Amino acid sequence: LDNGLGRTPPMGWNSWERFRCNVDCDNDPENCIGEKLYMQMADRMAADGYKDAGYEYVNVDDCWMAKERGPDGKLQADPKRFPSGMKALGDYIHSKGLKFGIYEDFGTQTCGGFPGSKFFMETDAQTFADWGVDLLKLDGCYSNIEDMTSGYPIMEFFLNKTGRPILYSCSWPAYFVAYKKIPDYKAIAKSCNIWRNYDDIQDSWDSVTEIVNYYAKNKGNFFEVAGPGSFNDPDMLIIGNFGLSRDQQRAQMAMWAIMAAPLLMSADLRKMDPYSKSILLNKDVIAINQDPMGQPGSIILDMNQIQIWFRPVMPKGSAAFAVLYTGSYGTPEKLSLKCETLGMVGPGGYNVTEVFDGRYVGMFKSADNINITVNPSGVFLGKAVYLGN
Ligand code: GLA
Ligand code: GLA
Repeated sequence: LDNGLGRTPPMGWNSWERFRCNVDCDNDPENCIGEKLYMQMADRMAADGYKDAGYEYVNVDDCWMAKERGPDGKLQADPKRFPSGMKALGDYIHSKGLKFGIYEDFGTQTCGGFPGSKFFMETDAQTFADWGVDLLKLDGCYSNIEDMTSGYPIMEFFLNKTGRPILYSCSWPAYFVAYKKIPDYKAIAKSCNIWRNYDDIQDSWDSVTEIVNYYAKNKGNFFEVAGPGSFNDPDMLIIGNFGLSRDQQRAQMAMWAIMAAPLLMSADLRKMDPYSKSILLNKDVIAINQDPMGQPGSIILDMNQIQIWFRPVMPKGSAAFAVLYTGSYGTPEKLSLKCETLGMVGPGGYNVTEVFDGRYVGMFKSADNINITVNPSGVFLGKAVYLGN
């Protein structure tokens, strides 16, 4: 969507994967969906280096609403869990130099059973603008997918009409895929800044590899339509939660960088261990994700349980590549790969660095072999700077 927003993949935090629809503030006040949670996450983002690294959106996901619309037809926050109201929450987030994201649904109800936007799109777009919302995630539960092709662009129109820049995140293609239909990605990229192509992420390596394997197939050519203003969204980062080992956390971060995916953390920033935090804050990995060309990578070689992904990045002719070992055969794989195989085909040679540790690997020509070791359910993320310019 050419609205000036999301020229590189948006970065931020979203409550859903980690905190879900926990509305029990009486018994679980620290973790329930309420204003306190988002204020504390905004505090941590501003104070602990996330904001400085580029993470800026604080996204409220499902279950923030009261069960009914107000008498004026407008959406209202649950009064008990958001006693100050959404405008005040937005003001607080903005006071930290961050941006305010919110969740609604295209159908009659949200996936969690709260009021949906059907028949209220114009009102809701204006309400969000009045609250200072900077990002809208529009989900697709309780709707007919036949309505989406015309309906998602209608919300785009009403958001635009408010005059407030609001990044637009669409779940539209994910519902087409769930119904085994091929989405029209050209239309989606025209109306949405980011879009979910596939199922929800869960807190496990199985879930991460299932998603990566789905994207590897690129069914419907969704990587082709991505670029500044329009990005595929393979869902949240689960780094810092319970389900991934150290190598697996690196692997998720590397693959989201290669795919030019939004970097939306969904972890408890109040309780991050230093290792997870260092992965999320790694400047060189983030720089690959945020490359100004905005061209996503794709899979160039699929060997049994080893995938090689390649993404063109600046400076011209350079690339990031990931050697992903999705299997778990128990011992590091030692590979000797011809640089050509990794996509390094330019005649001028490359300086190669391992990105997570910033370790210089060497200077290589396309016909040279490069030795790479990759751990089980891990990744080797390389950056190859082209020397032929
Ligand atoms: C769907 C979305 C998730 C989350 C939940 C909320 O499953 O795909 O990302 O927003 O709804 O109910
Ligand atoms: C079998 C055994 C394993 C191991 C291998 C070695 O698979 O079940 O525990 O000893 O042989 O080849």
